[in-house]
Amino acid sequence: MKVDVLLGLQWGDEGKGKIVDVLTPSYDIIARFQGGPNAGHTLEFEGIKHVLHTIPSGIFHPNVINLVGNGVVIDPVVFSAELDKLKPFGIDFSSRLLLSKKAHLILPTHKLLDAASEQAKGKNKIGSTLKGIGPTYMDKTGRNGLRVGDIFSPNFMEKYQALVEKHEGILVHHTDFTYDLAALEQPWFAAIEVLKTLQAVDSEHYLNQALQNGKKVLAEGAQGTMLDIDFGTYPFVTSSNTVTAGTCTGLGIAPTKIGSVIGIFKAYCTRVGSGPFPTELNDATGELIRKEGNEFGATTGRPRRCGWLDLVQLRYAIMVNGVTELSMMKSDVLGIFEHINVCTHYLINGEKVTDFPYDVTDLEIEPVYEQLEGWHCDLTELEDFESAPAPLKNYVTYLQAQLNVPIRVISVGPDRKQTLQN
Ligand code: GDP
Ligand code: IMO
Ligand code: MG
Repeated sequence: MKVDVLLGLQWGDEGKGKIVDVLTPSYDIIARFQGGPNAGHTLEFEGIKHVLHTIPSGIFHPNVINLVGNGVVIDPVVFSAELDKLKPFGIDFSSRLLLSKKAHLILPTHKLLDAASEQAKGKNKIGSTLKGIGPTYMDKTGRNGLRVGDIFSPNFMEKYQALVEKHEGILVHHTDFTYDLAALEQPWFAAIEVLKTLQAVDSEHYLNQALQNGKKVLAEGAQGTMLDIDFGTYPFVTSSNTVTAGTCTGLGIAPTKIGSVIGIFKAYCTRVGSGPFPTELNDATGELIRKEGNEFGATTGRPRRCGWLDLVQLRYAIMVNGVTELSMMKSDVLGIFEHINVCTHYLINGEKVTDFPYDVTDLEIEPVYEQLEGWHCDLTELEDFESAPAPLKNYVTYLQAQLNVPIRVISVGPDRKQTLQN
């Protein structure tokens, strides 16, 4: 068997949580491969809304294993709070939730370093979620990190103290940054005890064995392609590989074992945090999208920046991920417009640009739009795509022709049920 991958093609928050939940009944294992509590994945069903940060979005389906892979960074405090929130739903975590022994731990001092670094950057800040993601991945590649497997080691405390001393050696240079580490450590160590109650596994062996036994695996991406450390709008990115290749390194899966790559995008575009966004609308239209789409971050509550769909950006994301099928989300939100704009190319210094450029931060980019007819109606009660209004069908046909990839799913609301197949 192969591993299918579902990942975001824009700047995150495309609706990955919802679609993973919808697809889970067709899989045996759902595995997160990168990112950490910077993610906020929303699922809605039976009138209840759930937001997951580290736990994979397949957790609500009985008999499905949810695995947190080696590429993920785990904050024990956030993780333990997620478990607490799920307790009323009677999920058997000890048998259904597995952690890779190789996943790295976010220490309280990683969060402090994240905050101190952002404070020092001032107006150039990344707009980090302040969950300690950057400093934790820095320690991973710097070969200093602590991993889940270490919590069972008799010298865990020594390893912890050595790393904290390193961090404090950096924090002293941030003279105007104050903190109370002891207050953060108490809940952190309590949460480490909670982690110990779960199964820590050699996840690369576990997954490859499962594939050999005919199990179906879906890898769940976090963030989005334009936040990828290599291919995103650097330096305004996260610190992991969010693209398909991240599945291989974040789970221990060979490239030859990748199956379908499901790319997910909003029918428009959003971004939260700093950094370039060529089709951003700093006007009443952008405000309308934010209001209608309820575009506020699932992790930080920050308002998301909104703009029209950008085909230059989307084609780039499809290319680097090898996307084989698409899911278009939040189509209902555009129901407020009589006309919809889609960016087909950029003008840079008067020249037409169709390939996403190296530098989008300092260049003056003028997005060029094609205007399409809007459906201008409520889609949220729509039960099948055949009955969709003609302008929505045209929008889908137009995008498929522009992107050369079939759009298999059209989402018309946040609920599981508001999902149409094409
Ligand atoms: P993720 O990080 O990719 O999982 O996405 P988020 O959960 O951060 O953000 C997506 C938001 O849009 C959530 O509030 C979802 O409940 C909501 N959502 C998902 N699909 C749709 C849709 O088709 N229509 C509407 N109106 N909301 C949606
Ligand atoms: P999901 O999985 C949207 C953004 C932050 C910031 C940048 C770096 O819910 O789609 P970090 O905390 O990773 O150092 O922040 O990346 N960011 C996200 N934006 N959705 C996310 O995750 C994000 N995770 C990080 O806003 O600009
Ligand atoms: Mg999100």
